Amino acid sequence: MELAAGQVAVVTGAARGIGAALAEALVARGLRVAIADTDAAALQQVADALGAQVIAVPTDVADLDQVRALAARTLEVFGRIDLVINNAGISAGGPSWEIDPVAWNRLWAVNVGGVVNGVHVFTPHLIAAGHGHLVNIASLSGLTVGLFGAPYAASKAAIVSISESLRGELELLAPGVGVTVICPGPVDTQMFRGLAQLADPSADAPPEVLPAEIKEKLAPMMAVIAEMAEQTLPPARAAEIILDAVESGTLYATTHPDMARAARDRTEAMLESFGTPR
Ligand SMILES: NC(=O)c1ccc[n+]([C@@H]2O[C@H](COP(=O)([O-])OP(=O)(O)OC[C@H]3O[C@@H](n4cnc5c(N)ncnc54)[C@H](O)[C@@H]3O)[C@@H](O)[C@H]2O)c1
Repeated sequence: MELAAGQVAVVTGAARGIGAALAEALVARGLRVAIADTDAAALQQVADALGAQVIAVPTDVADLDQVRALAARTLEVFGRIDLVINNAGISAGGPSWEIDPVAWNRLWAVNVGGVVNGVHVFTPHLIAAGHGHLVNIASLSGLTVGLFGAPYAASKAAIVSISESLRGELELLAPGVGVTVICPGPVDTQMFRGLAQLADPSADAPPEVLPAEIKEKLAPMMAVIAEMAEQTLPPARAAEIILDAVESGTLYATTHPDMARAARDRTEAMLESFGTPR
């Protein structure tokens, strides 16, 4: 979808990080933007900094009624919706058997439930308008193997799958509405800095993220994280890549094409195990 002044976008998880950078990039292109986040104070600060083209709508994306209210408020203020970016996400980590099921469920409710709610609430508006675009923010973690981050990796794999189904369905039933799933690599935000801290030998790993006694055993993994930390992109660059993907209409996009090779390696390993002839 070509982005143009006067259009209206909704961005979730926009109080900081990639979401805030997306809001800024959209305003720079002349769009009006409804930004949503659970952190109401930080969200309002982003809106104030970006000016009258932006409204802040405090929203927990895991709550369907709040997502409905976000859509209603956006339509009330701006009168239309052209682009929806389901960006809000959280992470949780540790050995899979030690992660509190409460944390698993909350992560699933936010990362997957947030996308499900966004798709459920906003897609009918876009279909009725006859045009528009949905973006779901997954992760390269959703395409590869996520050790010590199973809830996060599984949730991102689900977002990729949901996006692929949605895209195919809309191509058949409402071809004016596009879908893109973004699989970012490392982007320099609070979320990634939390992960990078694990690989920093001078920092104590927060025990709820990774018990200190197993940290030593994980030296190879720490090396991978440290390498990733060297390749972080600024959120503003990630936002530009995401908006370029909207304009080109691709189903998949990533911020780090080189790292995406791991997805091919994983698929090849799987096919090899299946005995699939090359
Ligand atoms: N930073 C990276 O390296 C990276 C890599 C791959 C994917 N991603 C994904 O990109 C998206 C943005 O991540 P980020 O790095 O900017 O993270 P971040 O932690 O800096 O920002 C996430 C924002 O989402 C908000 N949020 C959390 N739960 C919410 C909820 N229930 N409802 C509404 N808002 C909520 C937070 O308050 C925060 O403002 C996430 O989906 C994340 O999984 C990030």
